[in-house]
This record gives sequence, C-alpha cells and structure tokens, in this order.
Amino acid sequence: MEFAVKSGHPEKQRTACLALGVYESRRLTPDAERFDRACGGYLNNLLRRGDLEGKPGQSLLLFNLPGALTERVLLVGCGRERELDDRRFRQLAAHTAKALNDTGAMDAVVYLADLPVKGRDLDWKIRQIVEAVEESHYHFDQLKSKKDAPRRPLRKMTINVPGRRDLAIGEQAVREGSAIAGGVKLTKDLGNMPPNLCTPAWLAEQAQALAGEFPTLQATVLEEAEMEQLGMGALLAVSRGSAQPAKLIRVNYRQGSALQKPFVLVGKGVTFDTGGISLKPGEGMDEMKYDMCGAASVLGTLRACAELQLPLNVTGLIPAVENMPGGQATRPGDIVTSLSGQTVEILNTDAEGRLILCDALSYAERDEPAAVIDIATLTGACIIALGRHPHGLFSNHPPLAHALQIAAAASSDRVWELPLWDDYQEGLDSNFADMANIAGSRDGGAIMAACFLSRFAKKFHWAHLDIAGTAWKTGKAKGATGRPVPLLAQYLLDRAVEAGWDNGRAAH
Ligand code: BES
Ligand code: MN
Ligand code: ZN
Repeated sequence: MEFAVKSGHPEKQRTACLALGVYESRRLTPDAERFDRACGGYLNNLLRRGDLEGKPGQSLLLFNLPGALTERVLLVGCGRERELDDRRFRQLAAHTAKALNDTGAMDAVVYLADLPVKGRDLDWKIRQIVEAVEESHYHFDQLKSKKDAPRRPLRKMTINVPGRRDLAIGEQAVREGSAIAGGVKLTKDLGNMPPNLCTPAWLAEQAQALAGEFPTLQATVLEEAEMEQLGMGALLAVSRGSAQPAKLIRVNYRQGSALQKPFVLVGKGVTFDTGGISLKPGEGMDEMKYDMCGAASVLGTLRACAELQLPLNVTGLIPAVENMPGGQATRPGDIVTSLSGQTVEILNTDAEGRLILCDALSYAERDEPAAVIDIATLTGACIIALGRHPHGLFSNHPPLAHALQIAAAASSDRVWELPLWDDYQEGLDSNFADMANIAGSRDGGAIMAACFLSRFAKKFHWAHLDIAGTAWKTGKAKGATGRPVPLLAQYLLDRAVEAGWDNGRAAH
C-alpha cells in the first residue's frame, strides 16, 4: 500500500473515497462537521434519522453526496470521544482499512489522525494507522491454489494531518510505520510457512535473499562442521534427531561508526519442535511450526533497520534447527558440553530452545556487543503466567529492561518484566553436570528457562523476550503476529536517536 500525507479541508478533496469519523452518539468529528457544512447538512440529517450510531466497528458508505468533490464518503464509528484510547484507535484504523477495501475505491483520504487519543501524539497515530492498515490487508495465500485477495484493493491512502507544519512529522511517521510494517510482514510470512518447506536451510536462504535485497545487510551461514569445531555441543545436540542439518545464520548490518558496538539480536529458530524423544502430545502440534518466530522477528527487524537506514551496527544471530526424535536423537540423561565450556544434563529434550540459544549467546560474546537481546518462543509456562498480550521480559541489566519498556509503550507492543533472582538458580542443579536443562519442578517455568540462559549471558548486557504467547494467534484466526518487530524496531530507533540521528529528515 502506498501512503501519503496531506493537510487540507475535507470538502476540497477530489478522491475516490473520503473517510470521516462519527462519535457515539451520532456526533460528527470536527472534520466531518466541516465537510457536512459544504454538502448542506446531509450527514447530520442522516445521523438524526438514526442511520449510524457511531459505535466502534460501525461504518456506512455513501455515494454522490450533494456538492461533494469526492465520489464516496465512508463514515466510520469512533465510539465515545472520551473513550478513544490506544486499543480503540488501532481497531478504528483497522476497521477503516477493511471497509475501504470493500468499497472498490482504489484511493482514499482519511481524516483520523486528527482525532484526540489519550496520551498519544500525531506521530504515534500515523504509525498506528499505517501498521493497522497493513495488518488488515495481510493474507498468506502463497500455498492456496485459488487466491483470496480482494478484487480491487485500496492502493493508496492519504492521511490528513491538522496543519502544514505537521507534514514533516507525518511523512517521517509514514516512513517508520511502513518500515515496521514491512518487517512485520516478513516475520509473518516466515512464521506461517509450513515446516516441511521452512527448514533450517530454507531459513538460511531467506536470510541470504534479504541480504540480496538490501546491500546494507550481509548474511553468512555456519554449517554443522564449523559449529562442531567451535564446540557448540548444546546446539548440535538438539539437531541430532533430524534429517535436516542445523544452520547458524548471521546477518550483519553495519551502518554505524566502526567504534560503535553492535546490538545483537538472537532469535530462536526451531523450524519444528516435536519435543524430540520427550515427545509432545499430538493435539495442536502443528503450531510448533511457529517455534522459529524469534528467528523470523530478527530478520524482520533487520529489514526495518535497513529500510530506515538507521546509523547503527546490528547483528542478527539465528540458531536454526529442527527438533525431531530420530535414531540419532539426544536422549534424556545425555550430557553435552556447551560452547561456554559449561556442561548440561539434558533431562528433557523438549527444553531445546535454551540449548540452541545458550550456544548462540556464547557466540555473541565475540561481537563485543553493546547489548544482546534474545527472542524466543521459549516456554508454555510464559503463556500460563502472562496470557497472550505481553511478551515476557527478563534482563540482567535494569537500564536495558527500562529501555525496552519505554520502546514497548511507544510502539504499543507490550512487555511485562519477570524476575531473575538468584534464589531461582539452584533449581537447575544437576547431580551429574554443571546444570540440568530443566528444573525439578514446573514452578515458574518461564523464569527457570530465563535463569538457564542467564548463565550464558554474564559477559554483556542482556535481555530475553519470551514470545511464546505473542508470536502467533491460535484458533480460528491462526497466524503469525509479526511481534515483537514493532518493539525491537522502536528500541533500535530510540538508540539511533540517542546517537544523534535526525530521523532521516535531512535526507528528505
Ligand atoms: N517451543 C516450546 C514452548 C512453547 C510451547 C511455546 C507451547 C508456545 C506454545 C518449548 O521448546 C518447550 O517445549 N518448552 C517446554 C519446556 C519444558 C519441557 C521445561 C514447555 O514449555 O513445556
Ligand atoms: Mn520444546
Ligand atoms: Zn521449542
């Protein structure tokens, strides 16, 4: 979708469709009111007759309004003015996008960015519009023989801003929103891919394809023999039961100064998690194709960085494996030596995410990182603890956790911090190795997994995002969400601004 920003009166717009808001109960927004004066009070008449209450989710399409330059007007319900908050606004933007898609109009001018949303500025509103519109147009039909895309989808949306001095902010917000939406889309496409096609090797090819698309990205792939040589015994243990060879994918983005330390993003890339010999129950097992969503979000975030040309150094590290119960598979009780030199007794082969991540974290030390953030669909326990709205956040460095919380609030891609106290650590004691890969009880499972990882993250500032509940939706709307790309992109945007980035204003 193409987006543009404009500042002008609604009655002056020559367009296929004009989208205007109606508050509950039957009250036009100021822009709609202004438009209505130009067409002789037609809209107010209509509202008085009770044709549209203005409730969230409602809309009404009108043609040939008297005295109007626009072909159509789409009235969209905004709910009560006082109640217009983050969630409502996103829903409003999504509804508007869906309704516009059904009109047959190929371009539209929308008057939504002027509506007051509690605690939110124009920049936020425009980014949310862009992200919500792209979200509502997303469909994954690559593998359907009959495509279900709309016949005449909306091609161009012009977002109106209050005044001419808002244009620059608006255009920057569109650039950021589009870059984030592009990263989200890539992450969803990778996540939704079936596990017979999305193998570790295929993921590596996708990273290389992305690097082919953006000259500022460089992809390299470590093969099993090289990992063996490095001593990544934990990562390789997970891969043994699979016919698919493991890959360690690195994507470099180096647009900061040579002195700037890189931000390293480590994404769990289990392309299918059967549980291994500690086999999972059958019900819903198909969803374990999403166990590579952390990896997908790393590629999506790097795509957004490249598109925005952020002046930063960022490294993506993706341990990609398939967790299968083959004849060579790791057994419960096996002891392996990790890249760090620490030995691990694998008591449950289904706790595989931490095994591939621990070696990737040790490997990240070589980059002398400014910070390392790992992203992983790590534990079912995280869903039990937090549900499916926030990512679980853990960190060994409070300022890093704080920066992620700020980015989460700004991007509306929420996190909730859980503790990493030393008290928990003894739960991982093993009689036979330096540690076990699971705790003796199921208590605090998300925390115990994070505690395991923390033992491999002692040499840098580190945060861990458990995205088990947030990376995809289950049920009827099953599909990848593209999260936490908005959060990670915002975190990096904030770092770029900190480093003196002018938001690309000079360049445009
Ligand atoms: N990939 C799963 C975690 C998961 C499960 C995410 C369900 C989303 C939905 C992970 O590899 C796993 O199997 N974790 C185990 C850990 C346990 C064996 C300590 C879990 O959560 O049951
Ligand atoms: Mn598992
Ligand atoms: Zn897993």
